[in-house]
Amino acid sequence: MSSESRPVVHYRQWDDGFSVRSMTKADAKIVQKWYCEICPTACDLDVAMDSLPVDIRHGFYVGEYQGRVVASVMRIPVAEGIYYGSYYYVEKEFRRMGFGRRINFEVAAEYVGSNVLAIDAHDNLEEANKRHGFQTAYKVLMYSGRPRWQNDGEEGGGGIHVKDVSAYTDGSSYRA
Ligand SMILES: CC(C)(COP(=O)(O)OP(=O)(O)OC[C@H]1O[C@@H](n2cnc3c(N)ncnc32)[C@H](O)[C@@H]1OP(=O)(O)O)[C@@H](O)C(=O)NCCC(=O)NCCS
Repeated sequence: MSSESRPVVHYRQWDDGFSVRSMTKADAKIVQKWYCEICPTACDLDVAMDSLPVDIRHGFYVGEYQGRVVASVMRIPVAEGIYYGSYYYVEKEFRRMGFGRRINFEVAAEYVGSNVLAIDAHDNLEEANKRHGFQTAYKVLMYSGRPRWQNDGEEGGGGIHVKDVSAYTDGSSYRA
């Protein structure tokens, strides 16, 4: 069964109108666009959705509010007892309303259960993550700027132009 032909699962709805359901491939395009703004290497959401067997595709969530997709989070099993989490995002105008807490620490957390969850988190969220039971394992450094070989017309190390690498999917992914 393709991910598009599977029925959408409605996980939870709250009194203020916020609800969480399973992510479709169309949602994934929106989410990937959001995430590429904050993490230029994040262009693998549709790949993850397509490559996981159907029975473990419960870990892709979006939050809806006033008829719009406004929040997301992803949880995938990567080894025995270990999950990886990413794509935790809430659209700017809807932040600090508890949407992130609900989609992440309530709905997605239920799926992970008592397994270990590994995430990469931005520094400002470290304290909130600790409050929710995470421990910091290592520090992530993010660099910005253009490497010299990325200038127009130049090729990357393997003889492949970086633009071809970042356009590996249908064009909705991050482009340098
Ligand atoms: C992180 C993000 C998803 C939180 O969504 P949100 O709906 O605003 O979060 P909530 O209002 O539900 O708050 C959830 C928790 O995070 C904390 N939090 C939210 N935004 C925060 C911020 N900017 N700085 C520090 N803590 C923050 C809240 O205090 C709350 O903590 P608590 O559960 O212990 O009370 C949202 O700010 C976002 O999309 N940011 C940009 C993308 C991003 O950074 N994603 C995470 C990548 S690691």
